[in-house]
Amino acid sequence: MRIGILGTGVVGQMLAGALASNGHEAVMGSRDPASALGATEANRMTGRTLAAWHEEHPAVRIATFAEAAGHGEVVLNATSGAGSLPALEAAGSDHLDAKTLIDVANPLVFSPDGVSLSVVNTDSLAEQIQRAHPEVHVVKALNTLTAPLMVDPGALAGGDHTLPIAGNDDGAKAQVTVWLQEWFGWRDVLDLGDLTAARGMEAYLLLWLPLRQALDSGRFNIKVVR
Ligand SMILES: NC(=O)c1ccc[n+]([C@@H]2O[C@H](COP(=O)([O-])OP(=O)(O)OC[C@H]3O[C@@H](n4cnc5c(N)ncnc54)[C@H](OP(=O)(O)O)[C@@H]3O)[C@@H](O)[C@H]2O)c1
Repeated sequence: MRIGILGTGVVGQMLAGALASNGHEAVMGSRDPASALGATEANRMTGRTLAAWHEEHPAVRIATFAEAAGHGEVVLNATSGAGSLPALEAAGSDHLDAKTLIDVANPLVFSPDGVSLSVVNTDSLAEQIQRAHPEVHVVKALNTLTAPLMVDPGALAGGDHTLPIAGNDDGAKAQVTVWLQEWFGWRDVLDLGDLTAARGMEAYLLLWLPLRQALDSGRFNIKVVR
């Protein structure tokens, strides 16, 4: 399957690497592919540069946002919260038209006072994206856990934990549920309803971050017992 991934950070790398390993044609999008590949600063989470990662994943093409979106039968948004709307604008409505967009981003704002959300309560980043791009079917997913677990849920508790999703299009959510199972092995994908549920999925980061600090690890997830 042809998959476009907007973003070259750890999330983009994890998604693209796992998808390419499973035989998919993954293209990652960046504002400037040459300077992203030329960056000498190591990623904080992976401890290595994009170029070092790419040497191990030569099958993944690193291109512009527009090229990645145009390539994908489905597009994943793995850009920063502040970068998401600009990245999607650069991707171009023509390249997104009628596709499913899996939105992994969180609208986090880091400041000396701590972490906050740039949009909250009565709106969410996912809804902002959907309003700006009515031509795509936005499905919020995978934003509620650390990047390595997104693509390998079986590495924690035998995969017995929960992945919430939300979106306005039932067909797109049903398709994303199948893909998440096929691509990464997600067994408990829980549909929270329309995209207003993304408000809670994004605000959950305000709990996720203290949990991460308390556990000194991002290797945890929620399991909805029912
Ligand atoms: N890290 C995790 O484990 C994790 C878990 C769940 C959700 N998330 C969410 O997933 C997203 C990606 O996280 P990440 O840690 O992989 O990377 P990140 O550092 O949050 O974002 C990196 C990407 O954002 C793009 N970007 C930054 N500013 C931009 C701007 N002004 N305009 C357009 N694009 C811009 C960068 O483009 P260039 O390539 O051009 O530099 C890069 O591709 C975030 O929204 C994060 O909150 C992360």
